[in-house]
Amino acid sequence: MRIAVPRETAPGENRVALVPDSVARLVKAGYAVTVETGAGVAATLPDGLYAGAGGAIAADFASTCRAADIVLKVQRPSEAEVAMLSEGTILVGFMQPSASATLFQSLASRRITGLAMELVPRITRAQSMDALSSQANIAGYKSVLVGASAMSRLLPMLTTAAGTIAPAKAFILGAGVAGLQAIATARRLGAVVSAFDVRPAVREQVQSLGASFIAADLVTDGAESAGGYARELAHDQHERELEVIHRHIRDMDLVITTAQIPGRPAPRLITEAMVRDMKPGAVIVDLAADSGGNCELTRAGESLNVGGVLIIGAVNLPATVPFHASQMYSKNLETLIKHLVTDGKIELNITDEITGAMTVTHDGAVRPR
Ligand code: NAI
Repeated sequence: MRIAVPRETAPGENRVALVPDSVARLVKAGYAVTVETGAGVAATLPDGLYAGAGGAIAADFASTCRAADIVLKVQRPSEAEVAMLSEGTILVGFMQPSASATLFQSLASRRITGLAMELVPRITRAQSMDALSSQANIAGYKSVLVGASAMSRLLPMLTTAAGTIAPAKAFILGAGVAGLQAIATARRLGAVVSAFDVRPAVREQVQSLGASFIAADLVTDGAESAGGYARELAHDQHERELEVIHRHIRDMDLVITTAQIPGRPAPRLITEAMVRDMKPGAVIVDLAADSGGNCELTRAGESLNVGGVLIIGAVNLPATVPFHASQMYSKNLETLIKHLVTDGKIELNITDEITGAMTVTHDGAVRPR
């Protein structure tokens, strides 16, 4: 079976789908792996490491993917790239399902089977393929560093001959994968951390990381779906949540927002009035920028200063830590390949809970979702 790893071409994308260690394991297991020249360079993984791992190096996208059974990407392909794929190829990557209707039509019309990594279900059996989680972990970590470097204050308490500096106060809104990692990172840097999430299960996790959980009385069992994700709050609950956040946020130096409900626009949790009540010099890092933002002033990919408060609309933070983000993504893909292959051949079983959930195009059609 032939696996292809093209170079990512999306602006700012420094990750690569497979790292040399994965290539070595796959080659040992009998797969032929072709990597486009320069595919790993932005992740500090030069061609020589891939060749040393047993991969073949190809000159461009077309020659990398021509004979491939499966093409592994980070970002969804461009239309030009789709045109270079052979019929029957399986293409795996972050396909941005909610914004890719035209792309999916192109994939279907070329009879390319598309598997979207965003759609791996969050079930125990699929945990090691869950690339949203592996990448959200990195985003949570990096969001604190981005916020810390934009602040005019230090995070830790310092006791020095020049006086004592009080620790910064960090507030994490949404304590799922990214949020919990942001809590852990802000704590490691010495901030006093508080957090809020609507799901009851999260409270203990937040506290076990040494953060305080605010407004426990607002948490309800009904806020969690059977799949473990949050549900949208009823209007009055949402209003109560906004009041609590408004009271709490006034005193914060760093706010990281990560609240999301899958398939829905990001819940609006920080209004302009709240921002205007915050301390000058405070920083908000909005990880939900791409899905509309948890702060109503957020602009994806931009930073703006509102009355002395800096709002950073963070996008694609994992690509700013490309070595480890690629390493984790690569491991997710290795597990996926094992899941898809039986006796050395890909058996695409659409009735399987994981494969079925991820498959966006198959047999010349876009699959309904
Ligand atoms: P997750 O689903 O694990 O966590 C989201 C959390 O938000 C859940 O715990 C949920 O209960 C909570 N939540 C939902 N509604 C809420 C509300 N009204 N109030 C408080 N909490 C609420 O998601 P994950 O994987 O941690 O991702 C978080 C966000 O970060 C997503 O928007 C994701 O797209 C984004 N992300 C951003 C990246 C970037 O570079 N900007 C990279 C990776 C993820």
